[in-house]
Amino acid sequence: MTYTPVPPPSDAPSPTTVNSLLAAIADVGADPRRGGYSRPVWSDAERELRSWFLAEAAARGLETTTDANGVLWAWWDVPAARRGGSLEASRSDAVVTGSHLDSVPGGGAFDGPLGVASALAALDQLAAREAAGALHRERALAVAVFPEEEGSRFGVACLGSRLLSGAIAPERALALTDAEGITLGEAAERNGLDPRRMGPDPAALDRIGRFVELHVEQGRGLDGPDHRGPAGPGPALAVGSTVLGHGRWRLSFRGQGNHAGTTLMQDRADPMVAAAETVLAVRRLAAARPDARATVGRISPIPGGTNVIASRVDLWMDVRHAEDEVTAALVAEIADSARAHAAAEGCTGELVEESLSGTVHFDPQLAATLSGAVRRTAPAAPMLATGAGHDAGVLAARVPTGMIHVRNPTGISHAPEEHVEDDDAAAGVLALADALEELL
Ligand code: GLV
Ligand code: MN
Ligand code: MN
Repeated sequence: MTYTPVPPPSDAPSPTTVNSLLAAIADVGADPRRGGYSRPVWSDAERELRSWFLAEAAARGLETTTDANGVLWAWWDVPAARRGGSLEASRSDAVVTGSHLDSVPGGGAFDGPLGVASALAALDQLAAREAAGALHRERALAVAVFPEEEGSRFGVACLGSRLLSGAIAPERALALTDAEGITLGEAAERNGLDPRRMGPDPAALDRIGRFVELHVEQGRGLDGPDHRGPAGPGPALAVGSTVLGHGRWRLSFRGQGNHAGTTLMQDRADPMVAAAETVLAVRRLAAARPDARATVGRISPIPGGTNVIASRVDLWMDVRHAEDEVTAALVAEIADSARAHAAAEGCTGELVEESLSGTVHFDPQLAATLSGAVRRTAPAAPMLATGAGHDAGVLAARVPTGMIHVRNPTGISHAPEEHVEDDDAAAGVLALADALEELL
């Protein structure tokens, strides 16, 4: 379909921009201690963002629902008659876009919310095109918001999309606990969900004809050495090609809790020392494997007192590589090293896999459609492999899925410095609207 730009009517209010949408939530979940935003799933902040989204959707006349897994849906329906009668039939083969509103601790403003705000702004553009007679849709469009994408509260990322698509067994998900020992099932119930209904949702999945997630680029993929030319920064947009395989493991070291002052150095079985040696080994072993990434970003001593030798230390490790066999081999090496460091300290060490997702290749046909649309706005837009995980990566196992990445000039993400320029956000919205128009 050829896209003909539709000038807004001269008396129309100024169009919604990502900037104006994100400005309305700029204070929600701001974390003065860590910097940036802390918006774990079902925290006050994340609940406020959910309400904000539902209000924005309602203001556009969209029908909103919260499904059994806590995924928010906002529907821009086609008149039912055009699609064979019932509303349900008219939602089959729907085009779905969206992202998430939860964050890592101290995260940036754009990881997740950019995709949600861009979806709303793109929908506004499409509605204007339809009102001007320039868009004739065959399909419904839905904006979806997935809970616990970051796994920052319950430890497993993309829980909403995993539950919906059957990528995690509901019994396992419901038993996951947060730092306070609250299970996902309990938290879900406190937030109005029925844990017995959580799990695979074939009806919701079947409605999704294609899923497109727009996301802030999270490294130096668009503004790094590969793309920055003499004329300045690289292209504003990219189309996703793959999501790097990634997983999370818990390493637990157990020793003898004791008194910091009375226990001679040679008498200690200190799990903190084994953990510290292991952190260094993680770095060394990953660096020896080209293109592997391994991170220890969280460590928790028990009982955790300055004058107490810990009795147990847990640390959580994130490992990523394009080849799943390399990830497995690297994790096995790290496990051996951890056990050796534990034994040398008179401790024990145990490794438990908490999640593992193989490398995802996005649907080539959808990627070609996205590229065509994106390159009208950003002619140099490359295909981009991302090292970050996404709900799009989970859904790709079940439905044709694609991604649009928006340049991040700092190259920093999961930190307050994450950034998107207004012009790039506007380019992302236009490209998303064009892509959705083709799919609708
Ligand atoms: C989420 O952004 C992840 O890549 O872990
Ligand atoms: Mn994200
Ligand atoms: Mn993230």
